[in-house]
Amino acid sequence: MASKRVQDIAKNLKELPKQYVQKESNRPIKTSPPPSPIPVVDLHLLSSSQEDEMKEEMERLRTALQTWGFFQAIGHGISSSLLDEVGQLTRDFFNLPMEEKQRYSKIGIDGHEDGMEAYGNDIVSSEDQILNWNDRLYLLVTPEEERKLDSWPENPSTFREILHEYSAEMKEMGDFLLKAMAKLLDLEENYFVNRFGEKAIMYVRFNYYPPCSRPDLVLGLTPHSDGGGITILLQDNAVDGLEVLRDGEWVNVPAIPHALLVNLGDQMEIMSNGIFKSPVHRAVTNSEKERVSVVMFFAPDPKTVISPADELVDTTKPRLYKKVKVEDYLQVFMKNYALGKRTIDWAKV
Ligand code: OGA
Ligand code: NI
Repeated sequence: MASKRVQDIAKNLKELPKQYVQKESNRPIKTSPPPSPIPVVDLHLLSSSQEDEMKEEMERLRTALQTWGFFQAIGHGISSSLLDEVGQLTRDFFNLPMEEKQRYSKIGIDGHEDGMEAYGNDIVSSEDQILNWNDRLYLLVTPEEERKLDSWPENPSTFREILHEYSAEMKEMGDFLLKAMAKLLDLEENYFVNRFGEKAIMYVRFNYYPPCSRPDLVLGLTPHSDGGGITILLQDNAVDGLEVLRDGEWVNVPAIPHALLVNLGDQMEIMSNGIFKSPVHRAVTNSEKERVSVVMFFAPDPKTVISPADELVDTTKPRLYKKVKVEDYLQVFMKNYALGKRTIDWAKV
């Protein structure tokens, strides 16, 4: 199926190609202000030696995970200069000439489907699929020995080095969050870290959303929940676009400079037996400015099987999800994602 980078389409746009026009029910309308602001959690306070302070912040985290499934993480200890570099790198990459970016694409501009791990667009699995106003670069960053370095850009020249550094920070933050979540559920501190395993996978997705003359008709990303365990997202520092579905309403997630947005994916909802939520979210576009985001998806070892923790299942709390092999889940997820469908129902008991 022909694929063309949205960046090129946006540049020469006379008329919006109809594959990008959302059905009326899915079109973005002005969002309402949130009923309460997106929770902000200070990660530094989660390990404070002052017990009151620590407990209060843990409760804030609990509420965030049980209601929104989303929070803004501050006090994460990752330097602002690294975050700025990662943001700049992303813009620099997408601003390279198309021929240069295409070197990191699995298949040519008008070839067939793109491989998942590369520069390009998400897989198109049916003729009538409505396409996202989004180009992306998708790379596996852990396990380190499985990286496919030939898909890692060498331009900008610092790309690999900075991504390597950022991945290490993200892995550390991911493990820290998994430990905090285990504590909240009265599980052994390393419960989730062990479930994710030595061969836990982390993918990075650099998103590029070109401006669109008809932001009322298109979506940068259609509504979805994430398929992994935890997602850590670096928002554009100047342009908003992420929205989360809360009580049936789309709520804008404003960017807080140097905060990192954390959301749960389906696999944490499964492992927590539904106590924590994997939120549905989407990205909208705007008519003037390009927008970028850098998203880290952190998931358990694909060869393992996940299920609700035994400790979270008893007669008063029935098991909500079946045992699923992580790689099977991810495979079904990718298919459903293309069709705009959720996968978590597939794992329900
Ligand atoms: C994603 C995602 C939102 C954004 O890549 O899964 O939800 O703001 N991105 O780019
Ligand atoms: Ni997402």
